[in-house]
Amino acid sequence: MGFGRPSQPATTRIATARAGSNIAFIKYWGVGDVTLNLPLNNSISMTLGDLYTTTTVEWLHPRLLGADEVSIDGRVQTGKAAERVVRHLDRIRAQAGSVDRARVVSRNNFPIGSGIASSASGFAALTVAGCAALGVNVERDRLSALARRGSGSAARSIYGGYVEWERGTDDRTSIAHQLYPADHWPLLDIVAVVNAGEKAVSSEDGHRLALSSPFNSARIGTLPAALSEVRAAIATRDLQRMGPIIEQDALAMHAVMMTSSPSLVYWQGGTVDLINAVRRWRTEGILAYFTIDAGPNVHIICEEAQRMPIMERLRALPNIHQIIVSGPGDGPRLLDTHMV
Ligand code: PMV
Repeated sequence: MGFGRPSQPATTRIATARAGSNIAFIKYWGVGDVTLNLPLNNSISMTLGDLYTTTTVEWLHPRLLGADEVSIDGRVQTGKAAERVVRHLDRIRAQAGSVDRARVVSRNNFPIGSGIASSASGFAALTVAGCAALGVNVERDRLSALARRGSGSAARSIYGGYVEWERGTDDRTSIAHQLYPADHWPLLDIVAVVNAGEKAVSSEDGHRLALSSPFNSARIGTLPAALSEVRAAIATRDLQRMGPIIEQDALAMHAVMMTSSPSLVYWQGGTVDLINAVRRWRTEGILAYFTIDAGPNVHIICEEAQRMPIMERLRALPNIHQIIVSGPGDGPRLLDTHMV
């Protein structure tokens, strides 16, 4: 698989993988096929080097382990969260024709409850570690397809740098690929955390509502042009060209969310304050643009030269709980230190 796997004896059924989260410039919002997790549109993201999940998967014969065990950030998971991981373990088992049970230990390096989605890095790391430990030796695009079934955005975290996930038409074709490696363009994602709580409606549930918004088809109609502009802007490292498009798509996605039935409003007061602040800072000569995922926190996309002036301004604003910064990072890799 080419993840720099350390050499192991053939009997070892354990592997640990680390995968970065990602921030989408053109968002994935809305699912066409719920079972296969086929999206309504292509999306483009930057894999984050400094916000990642590390996951160990150890496979054991059912005689030794009666049921899968899942621990995330030191807490044993039960209910919906555990079921979602077990469903993904089932997919990995199906690939390998295995009936083994798994012990999964996963840790995020970003603070628990920071409101940063961990599903992209989490399902990418789970896919890579789970497959490696079971000896499933498939091409990276197959891992992307598999990760997609766990969480759509995880399909993109199977690659480093700048990544596009093709909508595709079936399980084989709905996969991500790398546009450029991480060192192509050292952009920064400065995350201003305005609320660290759990979101009321998960993106998994939210994707199913997109088609109920009258604005969904209007947003989808803008995407062919927006995607080609973002591809071209990344190719030429042109933030001034890319920025207005990523802001517009984030706003369009939130317009779809707000107008779906039932309506989803992820923003809080602090979200709007930051949108206005970023736009004001641009008039002061600070080249930075915002994007917002399925939550209230604002991701500020800029280059290194703008880091300090933005940090200073953010620290002067009220109601910001935390500031987290990440540059682009590489794709998942296997580690030789395990957590079980
Ligand atoms: O992968 P999911 O189901 O958590 O969906 C991610 C949705 C957004 O973060 C809002 C957009 C995206 O493309 O990452």
